[in-house]
Amino acid sequence: MDSVGEQELIIGRRREGRWLDGTPGQEQPNFAADPHGRATPLDSHVRLAGPERRNLPPLVRRSYRYDKGDGDSGLIFSCFQRDLVQGFETVQRRLEGESLSMYVLTTSGGYFFVPPPGDGWAEAFLRS
Ligand code: HEM
Repeated sequence: MDSVGEQELIIGRRREGRWLDGTPGQEQPNFAADPHGRATPLDSHVRLAGPERRNLPPLVRRSYRYDKGDGDSGLIFSCFQRDLVQGFETVQRRLEGESLSMYVLTTSGGYFFVPPPGDGWAEAFLRS
């Protein structure tokens, strides 16, 4: 298994939340000031997923890890967005070649329509 330091370089953030350039976790790092990726590698997950810190991708992530105990374990990555192209698809394309990819084996996936709470959406949908 990679050391914690190596894992942090692959993700692009310290486990305790601080950014690799020392920026506190609640603040935004300045990736532009690190054009060669000396602090935060250019192929790290957070740098590729959200390179523009003032304009983060329009998606909300919620992942679930699972372990069935028979060797089948992994992560169910899910995210919510209004627009799949602007959300998931843009980020997924940017993540091609990230250093995390050697640990990721995608086995399946799907897109699901999630209606907002209440009944109003059905009528609006049928009218459009
Ligand atoms: C095995 C798969 C994945 C793992 C283990 C993983 C893990 C992580 C971790 C640890 C973070 C940092 C969380 C934080 O800083 O609070 C993160 C951030 C993020 N991930 Fe993933 N992720 C995975 C897949 C994906 C996929 C498939 C996408 C979208 C296509 C994605 C999009 C993002 C985004 C947008 C961020 C936030 C970046 C930011 O705030 O700058 N991730 N991920």
